[in-house]
Amino acid sequence: MNEYNISSLEQYFQVYRASVEQPEALWEAIAEEHFEWHKKWDRVLDWDFSTPEVKWFSGAKLNITVNCIDRHLEQRGNKTAILFEPNDPNAPAQHISYKQLSEQVNKMANVMLAQGVKKGDRVCIYMPMIPALAVSVLACARIGAIHSVVFAGFSAAALATRINDSDCSMVITADGGFRGAKEIPLKAIVDEALEHCPSVQKVLVEKRTHTAVSMHPQRDAWLAPLLEQAATHCPPVWMDAEDPLFILYTSGSTGKPKGMVHSTAGYMVYAAYTFKNIFQYEEEDIYWCTADIGWITGHSYIVYGPLANGATTVIFEGVPSYPDYDRFWEIVAKHKITQFYTAPTAIRALAKEGEAHVKKHDISSLKVLGTVGEPINEEAWQWYDTYIGKGECPITDTWWQTETGGIMIAPIPFVTPTNPTFATLPFIGIQPALMDTEGKEVHGNNVQGRLCIKYPWPSMARTIWGDHKRYFDTYFSSFPGHYFSGDGALRDAVGYYRITGRVDDVIIVSGHNLGTAPIEDAINEHPAVAESAIVGYPHDVKGNALFGFIILKEQHDPKDQQALVKTINALIASQVGPIAKLDKMEFVTGLPKTRSGKIMRRILRKIAHGQVDQLGDTSTLLNPEVVDQIIKQVL
Ligand code: PRX
Repeated sequence: MNEYNISSLEQYFQVYRASVEQPEALWEAIAEEHFEWHKKWDRVLDWDFSTPEVKWFSGAKLNITVNCIDRHLEQRGNKTAILFEPNDPNAPAQHISYKQLSEQVNKMANVMLAQGVKKGDRVCIYMPMIPALAVSVLACARIGAIHSVVFAGFSAAALATRINDSDCSMVITADGGFRGAKEIPLKAIVDEALEHCPSVQKVLVEKRTHTAVSMHPQRDAWLAPLLEQAATHCPPVWMDAEDPLFILYTSGSTGKPKGMVHSTAGYMVYAAYTFKNIFQYEEEDIYWCTADIGWITGHSYIVYGPLANGATTVIFEGVPSYPDYDRFWEIVAKHKITQFYTAPTAIRALAKEGEAHVKKHDISSLKVLGTVGEPINEEAWQWYDTYIGKGECPITDTWWQTETGGIMIAPIPFVTPTNPTFATLPFIGIQPALMDTEGKEVHGNNVQGRLCIKYPWPSMARTIWGDHKRYFDTYFSSFPGHYFSGDGALRDAVGYYRITGRVDDVIIVSGHNLGTAPIEDAINEHPAVAESAIVGYPHDVKGNALFGFIILKEQHDPKDQQALVKTINALIASQVGPIAKLDKMEFVTGLPKTRSGKIMRRILRKIAHGQVDQLGDTSTLLNPEVVDQIIKQVL
């Protein structure tokens, strides 16, 4: 059985069946044949979802950078590993070969060692989308430091919270970053954050924008002179299979972000295997994922998955609208991109600008298209298919999460027949289950429920940094014995899955997960605010937009509302980040609450959706009169 290259539906079903009936044998065969191990495992899998504890490839020793870099040097030393496309369309692209990547990663690893970073230390990376970001990630992995990449759009306060949660001893950043016409003062943001971060000993700074920044004499150092002096070989640190490779934060139902911890061996095997099949990757391909490395998509499908397969992976610094709305297609044409992976929100934004932008460029190199991050609506799917794929490129709608580490449900291009808005079938080794509200699995087809997974897969997160109880409570307590994703889904007549969206208080805005709690916390910090509640409502480009219902303190003069809207949004931008700003605010005198004092978001959601005739059961409300008042105000 050839399990590594799935190329027909029959083979998919055969390998899938094997992955359910004999999971350990299948994963062992994949791990054995396609990766380099310093020492093989003693056991393939130990697991118990009731604690939960999951261990893959116990006893094995490896280094992921050996698999992503060193083992390619002989055959692919001169092949481009990273193709960097800068923000400025007139600046030259950079081709970094596997040999050059090896040198850069080894030097960076040596710099980090010289600055005192050891295996197991946490290193925060807060950088623009430039090659040094990928190099820093890989350098951490080389020496066994645990990287925690924080998306460079987050505010100083959000950055500080993440640095403190995992006690990072080092921050790697840049003077600034370019994004379209904007310049982001990254070092200044880091300086502000570090006023509240006692664990940070050292800050390494890459020059990108060449703007003046302040350098703290003992703490901060420019990277370039250190790299120049560093040796080009740094022996890999041998990691246990289950040693943490990285922490990546995701929002949750409280104000505190959850630091999802990913392991080394299982993550590597699954990221690489999914990349190979879900993008039907072949040796000469030029693969481009437009995500930021600050998100899981960038970790698994810009850095680790592609490099583990010896692929050429594009890093794009800019935005789809700069200098104009044809930027993506210009890049596809220029580099003859074969696989293109993006978010539905980007597709909707570009579709809105019209096809003329696409028609300017020859994008016939494309073979496979992908989407990720939120449900794709039919209209966006059709536009992507017609104008970008010209009806010839299969679209892989990939459902997965920060917590899952790799793609879970998605069509395999040229193998699985697609159906717009359906993520279709589970990937090899993934056993989904739909659960009803009573906690029972719903079997058969034409059913819907809460999407759970009932068997471990290699790249699942192992814990939440410093809070294993929260890991259990969030993911394993709602449906005992199952991992609960927080999403709802339906399974149609042929067994295809369609993800219907979050069933918890996470709202996906422009593909970004936003927990309502941290945004409400930020709003409530405003001196005029007594209480607030955030809900999502449909938006034609962002997918969802945010609607805030806000109660002001009595003494506040409601005439200042315009100024208030501005200051509240500024507060949100500084506490959470600009992506979390509200599109609508309504200042209300009360919020609908249950008798136990819980805000009934379901009702606010209906009001925000304009569906006031579908409020459902309001009999448990403590204060039903508030609902009529809010409706009067909003309509
Ligand atoms: O609600 C699902 C949605 O994004 C959530 C995970 O977000 P995050 O951890 O930021 O990871 C995004 C990139 C993997 C999921 O719980 N989601 C992701 N992909 C899809 C999706 N919803 C529908 N269809 C998808 N293809």
